[in-house]
Amino acid sequence: MRLLSVEGLTKRFQIHQLRREVPAFDSLSFELSGGEFKLVSGPNGAGKSTLLRCLYRSYLPTSGKAIYCSRLGTIDLARAADEDIALLRRQEIGYVSQFLRPRPRVSALELVAEPLVHAGKSRDAALRDAGESLEAFGLKPELWNAYPTTFSGGEQQKVNLARALIRPNHLLLLDEPTASLDATARLALADRLDELKAQGVGILGVFHHPEDVGELVDSRIEIAPLESTNVAYEPEARPA
Ligand SMILES: Nc1ncnc2c1ncn2[C@@H]1O[C@H](COP(=O)(O)OP(=O)(O)OP(=O)(O)O)[C@@H](O)[C@H]1O
Ligand SMILES: [Mg+2]
Repeated sequence: MRLLSVEGLTKRFQIHQLRREVPAFDSLSFELSGGEFKLVSGPNGAGKSTLLRCLYRSYLPTSGKAIYCSRLGTIDLARAADEDIALLRRQEIGYVSQFLRPRPRVSALELVAEPLVHAGKSRDAALRDAGESLEAFGLKPELWNAYPTTFSGGEQQKVNLARALIRPNHLLLLDEPTASLDATARLALADRLDELKAQGVGILGVFHHPEDVGELVDSRIEIAPLESTNVAYEPEARPA
């Protein structure tokens, strides 16, 4: 089943300081099905992270469409209202980057359990599942009730992944999630992604070491780097 159709998606950044536009990618088109794992590749600066951020709508695409078949109906992620995006993020679109922004004074266990509680699970059951997930990723049990703000990069990443993958999302966007992981956690990640694929989750992933997920990859999209077009632009006048 088709999950996502990206049509002519383009993102350009306006660099006010330089008074010009920097293109990230231009007219990307591809499709992703439920249960498919598509590897996004391309050299540094090609726009891989920007593509995932446009689909998660941390960035607003400049033009093009990203038609997403949500559980509630079809929606263009490039143009959807912020409230709809917030709902999709809570319910069915997951995103993992290399970095966790831990919330102060929330324990690792609570952070991981939270998406299950939002989905209606009891707190006790959610905390139990969160413990199992942290265990699979190899986070030391003595850290489960501690605050991740002081964790090492790899420990934070384990919490990040455990939280993002604890329940089957519909669409999962992964931006170099293995960068700071040890071998145990990389294996746990591959096992979990395998399970999620079998449950129909569509995955778009950027991996610097694609061998971490080699067996799981069904298709690829290569983003070619663009020349900076040096398009001059006039900044919009500020209202008086
Ligand atoms: N917020 C931003 N403002 C201006 N330019 C940006 C912004 N984010 C990204 N860019 C530019 O867009 C281009 C693509 O960046 P992006 O981070 O998507 O590359 P990438 O393919 O993920 O690279 P890497 O492999 O190094 O992670 C780069 O030239 C970058 O400088
Ligand atoms: Mg990147």
